[in-house]
Amino acid sequence: MRQLLKKILPPFAINKLKRVQASFHRKLTPFFSKSPFLSRIYFTFLNSSYHREQFANLRGMMAYKQRINEHKNSSNPLLRRNIHRIEKGLIMKPLKPVFALDYIEQTQQIYFASLKSTNHQPEELQWAGAVLAKYYNVVKIEQSDLLLKLANEFKANVEVEFENINQFTPYSHSELVKPKFTYQEFYRFIKIRRSTRWFKQAEVCREKIKQAIELASQAPSACNRQPYQFFVVDKQPLVSKISKLAIGSGGFAHNIPTIVAVVGDYSFYEHERDRHVIYIDASLAAMQFMQALPTLGLSSCPLNWPELSVQDRKISKLLSLAEYKKVIMLIAVGEAETEGGIPYSQKKTAEQLTHFVE
Ligand SMILES: Cc1cc2nc3c(=O)[nH]c(=O)nc-3n(C[C@H](O)[C@H](O)[C@H](O)COP(=O)(O)O)c2cc1C
Repeated sequence: MRQLLKKILPPFAINKLKRVQASFHRKLTPFFSKSPFLSRIYFTFLNSSYHREQFANLRGMMAYKQRINEHKNSSNPLLRRNIHRIEKGLIMKPLKPVFALDYIEQTQQIYFASLKSTNHQPEELQWAGAVLAKYYNVVKIEQSDLLLKLANEFKANVEVEFENINQFTPYSHSELVKPKFTYQEFYRFIKIRRSTRWFKQAEVCREKIKQAIELASQAPSACNRQPYQFFVVDKQPLVSKISKLAIGSGGFAHNIPTIVAVVGDYSFYEHERDRHVIYIDASLAAMQFMQALPTLGLSSCPLNWPELSVQDRKISKLLSLAEYKKVIMLIAVGEAETEGGIPYSQKKTAEQLTHFVE
């Protein structure tokens, strides 16, 4: 409908229509914001802004089932989640003699099936195997028939090296490397990352991008599922097309050498209650990605990706994204132009941002 109107109406009429539509919604909002029920009516029948997101979420829930059962991907979200839960059980104080009874069988089944898959990422399997081996070493298997059966099955099918058990399972905090820099030094380093919008017209080394992504991968994520990917675009005309799609890139889109789309993947989740996790996890990783870039001689500017279905459709097509994948944000990356300006961007004080709850 929108496309048809764009074809048959002149631009001034389209703009007029947009203004009428915006004013219509502004007038309706006070009434429909009165209760959760009314807001549901509004977003079901009068405002379709959430529809694409809801569709992607549902598609993701369907894709999740395939993902965990068909073992075609390099990572299995349920295996990751369950192994993560077992690791948490292994560090519990006090350690329970038996735990994870309600999901250990499922975990082992997925692990065995994943071992047979040629696509599965080996380190994920090493981790899962080591944690399961440690689990059977630690729990009192004789207290449960199920555990006895599963432990025997595991030992008959899997041989986990002793070093692997040590390397891929919980360790104590004292083994972590202590920071060799002070708070002030770290503060100075953090301030080196500033949103940079003017870049040299030089190719960005892919190896450096991968190094920054490696660092981004160390970010925390819910149940360690890491439901995101960095789509790196460094070839024209695609860089230009994508840069221009970002609404906030006006005036500098043409000089962006590489643009990275941080893409969240709903197919890592079984339930819609987890629908925000892709945004949270991807943003935490994106932050570490941007923080890593200055150490590699690169600079960046995050670019907003608002929920606009027309833009979303366009970028999904350009990046060939499945319907359950969503662009979370774009990041312009390149070598900073030395004399390019950086806005001062005053930061709020810690006092403003802190609320100690008494
Ligand atoms: C989610 C997000 C979206 C942003 N979108 C844009 C954008 O569309 N265009 C732009 O020029 N800057 C954008 N920025 C950069 C902000 O303007 C910038 O982070 C802020 O002014 C603080 O400056 P600093 O990054 O140099 O500390 C965005 C930043 C974030 C975190």
